[in-house]
Amino acid sequence: MHENHRIFSGIQPTGNLHLGNYLGALRNWVSLQNDHECIFCVVDMHAITVWQDPIALRAQTREVAAALLAAGIDTKKHILFTQSQNPNHAQLAWILNCVTRIGWLNRMTQFKEKAGKNRQNSSVGLYVYPNLMSADILVYKATRVPVGEDQKQHVELARDTAHKFNNDYGVITFPLPEPLILGSATRVMSLRDGTKKMSKSDELDYSRINMIDDADTINLKLRKAKTDSLPMPDNENELIDRPEAINLLNIWIELSNSTREKAILHFAGRQFFEFKKELIELMISILGPINTEMKRYLMDPATIDSFLKNGADRARELSMPILAEVENIVGFLHI
Ligand code: AMP
Ligand code: TRP
Repeated sequence: MHENHRIFSGIQPTGNLHLGNYLGALRNWVSLQNDHECIFCVVDMHAITVWQDPIALRAQTREVAAALLAAGIDTKKHILFTQSQNPNHAQLAWILNCVTRIGWLNRMTQFKEKAGKNRQNSSVGLYVYPNLMSADILVYKATRVPVGEDQKQHVELARDTAHKFNNDYGVITFPLPEPLILGSATRVMSLRDGTKKMSKSDELDYSRINMIDDADTINLKLRKAKTDSLPMPDNENELIDRPEAINLLNIWIELSNSTREKAILHFAGRQFFEFKKELIELMISILGPINTEMKRYLMDPATIDSFLKNGADRARELSMPILAEVENIVGFLHI
């Protein structure tokens, strides 16, 4: 990977952070810190594009920040902050609203999914959400954006918008950002139904491992996780049509940084309960310490806030000259 990339990524404070978020996002962010300059943002402004209860929003913002800190985001070397505390994002988003075309936004599949049939009654914010996301990235001239598959289209839109801005004004201001899709556990599935994604909005709490779950809860949920009556496979073909077995095996592979071949070899022919015992131990050894640390932070919101404040100060400072450059190009008077 190229050394000189500036990384930006965002996560919404919408509650119930789970194993999918950890393996698909948080863990990747933590490892990117080793050889990149990183900016990580809790995107509260994106969250309110659909209704959020204010008290819950505040609590969830701190909860996501606590999870990131507990998972190992290093706020000395990198920046962690909440989106609303750097107004430069919104300022640039307006300018980008005037660059992106309506036709481009109309192609965004996430808007179509989220708005559903009730399009006329969606907030305008939900519609222009991708432009705010472009601004998040471009206000720092970030070049690599770690995201899940579902956000790839938005990063490509940011790229198109950056390109059009440069073209329209005849400048080379914005570098063109690229999505960074990391890891093979990009889709962790529900523990109750191996064909459904593990999701924060599933009513069944048993369908997911929450980052806030303690060791006993993890143990219980994994013991109850759906499986089939066959033993563990001893070759790839025996995994066909066994979505729950595949999912649990994939989770084990990700948590132990192993491969499909090694995992099959390790568990071949054994009973599921034996496999689960190992999986439970492994998961608790990784999520347990994060869980303890996260709860420690949550009991001390002032400390979370002080980390976020420090991050926001640095984020504003870093983005200010870039926004000034853009405003100057556009023709705004700086008085
Ligand atoms: P969301 O919870 O949908 O807002 O997603 C936040 C981040 O977690 C994104 O990077 C997603 O791609 C990732 N993510 C969410 N659910 C899963 C899942 N079941 N498996 C893997 N990654 C996920
Ligand atoms: N839209 C992203 C999501 O829902 C979160 C996000 C907002 C983001 N701004 C971003 C991700 C900028 C990457 C870069 O998951």
